[in-house]
Amino acid sequence: MNQQREFPDWEQLYQNQQVESMPWFNPDLDPDLDQALTRLNLHTGAALDLGTGPGTQAMALAQRGFKVTATDISDTAVSQAQEKAQEKGLNIDFRQDDILNSNLDKTFDFVFDRGCFHVLLPAHRQDYVSTVAGLIKPGGYLLLKCFSQLETRESGPYRFTPAQIQEIFSSRFNVISTEETVYHGTLDPLPRALFCVLETS
Ligand SMILES: C[S@@+](CC[C@H](N)C(=O)[O-])C[C@H]1O[C@@H](n2cnc3c(N)ncnc32)[C@H](O)[C@@H]1O
Repeated sequence: MNQQREFPDWEQLYQNQQVESMPWFNPDLDPDLDQALTRLNLHTGAALDLGTGPGTQAMALAQRGFKVTATDISDTAVSQAQEKAQEKGLNIDFRQDDILNSNLDKTFDFVFDRGCFHVLLPAHRQDYVSTVAGLIKPGGYLLLKCFSQLETRESGPYRFTPAQIQEIFSSRFNVISTEETVYHGTLDPLPRALFCVLETS
């Protein structure tokens, strides 16, 4: 967890590479999110897809009837995703936004983060925790997917144990569950991941 990790310039990445070839690309709703929505009985309301990238999760949530806002630090990611959503006839509020310096002015029933938190530097994690907690309505949820400590690839994002998630988020969230799973995307084998359900405290 403490090893310093390197990440691309996100804007350049989305300018230069097709989203379909990116390791996290999944055209369908993430199966762990799908299960969590059922378990938590979440069928309507306002959702934020944080670090939306290709926008596939935002689109799948909009198709399920959620009122979706989707943000990413990369302007190109956001505009490409917006174009695809428009082609599908989906109404999603796409915005360029850095979660570490956010201009978001709404609150949400839940925030879904599939891969943004685990690319932030450790020094920025508490800023993330307080900003995200402030974006969630009382009793709302953060649904977080990140790499698990069980993932053994050398490169890639930071990895976490359930105990580390508890430690990082406990100032603002009750950790309801942290389950070992995989990160569905284009890599083979699929990376080991944690799916975490957190409720604002
Ligand atoms: C691993 S990708 C996941 C993309 C998307 N959630 C998905 O599942 O397909 C991480 C995303 O986080 C975005 N990102 C990185 N740092 C960010 C920040 N500070 N604020 C908002 N988005 C950020 C990147 O541009 C990238 O699209």
